[in-house]
Amino acid sequence: MNQKVTVIGAGNVGATAAQRLAEKELCDVVLVDIVEGVPQGKALDLAQAAPVEKHDAHLIGANTYEASANSDIIIITAGIPRKPGMSRDDLLATNKGIIKSVTKQVVQYSPKSILIIVSNPLDAMCHVAMEASGFPKQRVIGMAGVLDSARFRAFISMELNVSVENISALVMGGHGDTMVPLPRFSTVAGVPITELILPERIEAMVTRTRNGGAEIVSLLKTGSAYYAPASAAVEMAESILKDKKKILPCAAYLTGEYGISGLFVGVPVKLGKNGIEQIISLKLTAEEKKALAKSAAAVQELVDAMKKMP
Ligand code: NAI
Ligand code: 2OP
Repeated sequence: MNQKVTVIGAGNVGATAAQRLAEKELCDVVLVDIVEGVPQGKALDLAQAAPVEKHDAHLIGANTYEASANSDIIIITAGIPRKPGMSRDDLLATNKGIIKSVTKQVVQYSPKSILIIVSNPLDAMCHVAMEASGFPKQRVIGMAGVLDSARFRAFISMELNVSVENISALVMGGHGDTMVPLPRFSTVAGVPITELILPERIEAMVTRTRNGGAEIVSLLKTGSAYYAPASAAVEMAESILKDKKKILPCAAYLTGEYGISGLFVGVPVKLGKNGIEQIISLKLTAEEKKALAKSAAAVQELVDAMKKMP
């Protein structure tokens, strides 16, 4: 393949993302993890699936970063996931140290890469990665909005018994309980759901979307969601690798957009070969603006808490 993506963390999200990248034949994949044998074993297993799946992507597993050199994109999934009873924020201190360390190591080998951050708490980890990499804001992007919007889309599809392909939805804000699903910007074949579904049913779907991660954690019991998160990260990578310029909700470093400055928050962005090529400014109602500001304040709290950590 011409292009190369390194996935750091060969756990549930990382290995599934590697599988999707390879099976879509988007790029060669390097899988890096600290646990000896795991990235090598999963990469070899995926490579042995290639003849059956009919792709020619090369997969390598490693415990160090040499093989990742000159990657176009780095997807960071390293860290610990949530267990039942834990919030994403409980992961803050542990994952902060991990993200700082892996980012510093990987960018030495791929100084021109684009970082897609997945590890939680997502918006705070984007700050850690931006600081540790020294990369410009266009090349540090957080994955959450694509996942949260996909969950909202799935629930709308279940409610109306309509193909998911007809449904588009938008969830903005931080990747936490204060995220902001936006029914006005969520449509079925172009028609806003506010014209198709009763307000109390929309409210129920908004709540289920906000709790989407916790719902899966409570079912799995030993970890958090990974199929949909991996799909979401790969959709972002594909838009960058193919320079598709898709508009996707992603955590982006805002410098005044939506009245927010110096903070990673989920907003619609255009993703192309340069990373974030444009931040899309939507006209929000006073109520929507208030919800977004509340969500940004929750991200700010985590960033402030990190500043007090050693
Ligand atoms: P997992 O536990 O299955 O995999 C994490 C992997 O990271 C493990 O294999 C572990 O060995 C590895 N790792 C830990 N420290 C490392 C280091 N220093 N260098 C390299 N590898 C290291 O967890 P899972 O389910 O894959 O989730 C990964 C992260 O993604 C978690 O923080 C989780 O909360 C987050 N997540 C975020 C989502 C989002 O929407 N942004 C959605 C789903 C998960
Ligand atoms: C999720 O939303 C845990 O952030 C992860 O599934």
